[in-house]
Parts: sequence; C-alpha cells; structure tokens
Amino acid sequence: MDMQPIPAREGKHNLKDYHNARKNFDWEQVKRKFSWYETGKVNAAYETIDRHAENPSKKNQVALSYSAPDREEELTFEQLKNQSNQFANVLKKHGIEKGDRVFLFMPRSPEFYASFFGVLKVGAIAGPLFEAFMEQAVRDRLQDSEATMLITTPDLLYRVPQEDLPDLKKIVLVGDKVEASERYIDYFAEMKQASEDFAIEWVDLEDGMILHYTSGSTGKPKGVYHVHNAMIQHYATGEWVLDLQENDIYWCTADPGWVTGTSYGIFAPWLHGVTNVIRGGRFTPESWYGTVDKYNVTVWYTAPTALRKLVSAGEDVANQFDMSSLRHLLSVGEPLNPEVITWGVKALDLRIHDTWWMTETGAMLICNYPTMDIRPGSMGKPIPGVEASIVDNEGNELPPYQMGNLAIKKGWPSMMRAIWKNPGKYDSYFVNGWYVSGDSAYKDEDGYFWFQGRLDDVINTSGERVGPFEVESKLIEHEAVAEAGVIGKPDPERGEIIKAFITLNEGYEATDELLEDIRVFVKTGLSAHAAPREIEIKDTIPKTRSGKIMRRLLKSWELGLPTGDTSTLEE
Ligand code: WT7
Repeated sequence: MDMQPIPAREGKHNLKDYHNARKNFDWEQVKRKFSWYETGKVNAAYETIDRHAENPSKKNQVALSYSAPDREEELTFEQLKNQSNQFANVLKKHGIEKGDRVFLFMPRSPEFYASFFGVLKVGAIAGPLFEAFMEQAVRDRLQDSEATMLITTPDLLYRVPQEDLPDLKKIVLVGDKVEASERYIDYFAEMKQASEDFAIEWVDLEDGMILHYTSGSTGKPKGVYHVHNAMIQHYATGEWVLDLQENDIYWCTADPGWVTGTSYGIFAPWLHGVTNVIRGGRFTPESWYGTVDKYNVTVWYTAPTALRKLVSAGEDVANQFDMSSLRHLLSVGEPLNPEVITWGVKALDLRIHDTWWMTETGAMLICNYPTMDIRPGSMGKPIPGVEASIVDNEGNELPPYQMGNLAIKKGWPSMMRAIWKNPGKYDSYFVNGWYVSGDSAYKDEDGYFWFQGRLDDVINTSGERVGPFEVESKLIEHEAVAEAGVIGKPDPERGEIIKAFITLNEGYEATDELLEDIRVFVKTGLSAHAAPREIEIKDTIPKTRSGKIMRRLLKSWELGLPTGDTSTLEE
C-alpha cells in the first residue's frame, strides 16, 4: 500500500510481551483469570457483575453510566448485582428455567441490563432484539426461537403479534401504569417485592447464553447460538484489543440487539470491571463528541459510518470538544476507509483500530491493537490463539495476495455452537476444518488481512447486515408488488444502500406516491434499516431456470458492469 503505516503505541502490554504471548499462547492461560477456574462454578453473569460486587474495593464503582435525552442514571456493580438478582427472582417465580429462551425487546436502559443479567442468572438464554424491529422481524425471531417470555415496554407491545406466537406465555412490561394479569407482568411492581438475594444457576461452559439473529442471503434470519464459554474470548480481546485498564471509562456505541452491543457493550468491559458508558437515543457528530468530552471516555468502540460522519462534520465541530481523555478508538462492521484512519491521527492525534469479526464468531478475530503498526485499509492480523487464512472453495490455503474466502481455523472459544434448530446450515459453514466467513479477502506477506467484499448477496448498510430475502419477502406482501429483487448499491456514506427492483401487479401505476407507500410498508412492517432507499420498477425480474432471483445480474446492470455468465438465466 502507498499509505504510510501508523506506528504502534504501547498500551497495557509492550511489544515484546505481545510477541511472547503470541508465541506461547494457549487459551488455558486465559481461563485462569476467571473465578470458575478455582471454584468450578460457571455463569457469565457472575463473572461479569457479581465478582466485582463482592470485591469491597470495586462494589461501589460505577458499572453503568446511563444517559438518554430524558434520563441519566448510574448503577454501581453492587446495584447491578442486586437488581439482576431481583429480576432473576421474578423470572423464577414465573416459571423460567435453565435453557428457556427469554427475549428482550426494548431500548437501552438500566432495566435492560438488570433484566439481561437476570436471564443469565437463572440459566436461561437471552435473545436481545433491536428496538427498531417491526412486527415481521419480531414474529420471525420469536417463532423460530420458541421463546416463552418477552421483556418489552408498553410502547413496543403493538409490534408483538401475540396471536402468532403460541409458545410465548408471559410478557414483562417495563413502564408505568401496567395492568398486570396472568399474562402481563408489571416489571417495577414485581421488582419492588423481589428479594435481592438469589442463588445463581451454575451452568456448564457449553450451556446456552445468548441467541442473536442475523441475516444471510437466503431464508429467514438465523439464530446464532452462543454459550458461556464465549466469555473467555470476550475477556482476552478486552485485554489485548480494547486494551482495557483499571480506571477506564469505556463506551461502545452499538445497541445490544446486535452482537457488538453484547460481546463488547456488556461482556468485555464488565469482565474487566471498567465503567461502561451507555447512551440511548440517536446520534449526531455533536452528541458523539459531546459524550466523549462529558464522560471523559478513554476507549471508544464505534463504526465506520459514525467516523465518516465525524470526518465530514469538519474540524470546527471537533474543536468545540475536548477529546484528550481518549487513548484510542476502535471500529467494526464494515470496511474502515484509510482516509478515516489518517484523519484520526491528524485531527485527534489518535489511532483508530479496525476489528473484523461476525455475529457467528462471537468475538473479535482479526484486529489492529495498540502494539502493532496499522496499515491503513487493512483489518489487521489474527489475535493470539486464532488462526486465519485465505482458502479456496475446497478449503485449501492460498498464498499471499491471492483473493479467496476469509476463513478461520475451527475451535476459537467464542465460536457459535449452533444455528438454532438448523444443524444442516451450521455444518455448511465449515469446510476442511475451516470456518468460511462469506467475506473475500487476501493477506499480504506480513500476515495483514485486506477485506475485499462479501461473496454472497448479504447487504451491509451503515454496518448493519440485511438479508435481501427478508426485504424481498416483505415487498411482495404489498398488494401492488408482484416480484422483487433486492441488492446493496455502493454508497459513500453508508457503505451500501438497499435498492429494490420490483414488478407491479396488473392495475397499478408507477407513481411516486406508490413507491413511497411501498417503502413505508417495509419500514413499518420489517424495520427502518431494511427499507429500500431506492425502488426501481422493471418489466421482469431476472431469474434462473430454477426460479432463483439473479441479484448478481441486477447489481451488474445497476453498476454498468459486465454481466458475466448468464447461461442459467430463464428465457
Ligand atoms: C460482516 C458481519 C460483529 C461485528 C458487527 C457486524 C462485515 C465486519 C468488518 C471490518 C470490513 C467488516 C463483514 C462481516 N464486517 N467487520 N472490520 N471490515 N467488513 O457483524 O452483522 O454479523 O456482520 O460485517 O462482511 O462478514 P455482522
């Protein structure tokens, strides 16, 4: 690359330590950092919260520093322990047991985090849902997981199609003026009565902890199943990559409905016992900068789409705020533009560390960290204990600079353990002992990895993963739409935007009003981030002879590229 590398800055570890750790690394050493290594009693909620609450010098430290436009609140480790114990008692009272799926569908709030840990403490599996999901998205996830309980707010209840969810027995409502019944549980009323003591359900490292639904190019969203063992890697990457230190004020911008918001918005920071800044609401460059300034954030984990907005907001905005508390920034979700990295050094005198991983991988795998030189545009190198490579379709490793499938040697601690109720799908991720990611990349002769793109039709819009099939299915539910094909179209700010090609049913005319109505239909039925920004009407949608939509062809047409092999195209 022509761009100059950004030299290492020492974090918690010096370079020599790092290289030694890499050479002698084994995950067993990381396990020694956990209390269960001595006691044999495992539960990620205990390691994350209670362990610090039982430590006299830590229990009164602020664990959660929450702010939203209309609310500010702090909870210490002890308070978070007590509140999650109370909620665990509520769950138990209402019959929730180990292995049950309990879903959480609400905005970030102190109650969200107390509930989340309560779910883990009874040994149940937590299913966090992004608050912007609409009816169809909620239905798909609750049906597939056969969740028996949902924790939500009265405001969001209208998006829960209860008549279609026979397994869902109880709903906890977090809000005032809740009318409790056999089915509805009043969160605040029951918490008031619940004991702060709770005997944690000790589990096995391989027992279920969390279900995150994510989109592929075909079918409905898939339930990615993670177990308590994942905390080993959350801890290790919190140390090596986030570089968390005793007095850090850490901020992760991601919502816990996405894996970044749990692995790095919950587990990594609290396993390290740092103060975790949690902010709800929508963001602007001013509120991003303002949060760092106000709370003296030292480590900030965010996404390229946010960083690009900071760059385009200009230096005048940046200069209104004091960013000197920050030690470094991190980024995930989509390619981090080299220009953003050089901007970070120039405008903020800070390094931005790109990290690569996926919902399925549970934790960071390929990263930049304080003790390595950054090559702008590269995702970095595999962390200690992880083996990554570029492989062909048979799982054979390819030499440097050859593009292929980005793949990880099976067996890292936070690897998903199943696709919920879909063993065939799970097996299809693995080829010749490698987990094949669906991303294409190459590595250089020094082992840095360079992202090239997705190999499937999955869309990445502002760092959020959208499956074209879900959007197409919703589109054709609209009375005017006959057929639909959906692609990601490159966009300088959002990475990609969603573009839909549709054919209309007889009797409908292509007016601006109709197109807007279709857009709103997806937005209010599925979710805002899945709504197409562009809709184009076609006479036909290209399909293979077996009836599959040829999104590749739609994309080539859209971008004016050669159409490649069209031999399977239907006449
Ligand atoms: C896909 C995974 C787990 C983090 C949030 C996204 C893309 C992720 C990078 C990066 C380029 C990236 C990949 C990946 N992606 N990080 N640093 N550079 N692309 O999780 O929703 O499961 O999406 O996001 O395409 O496969 P996800």
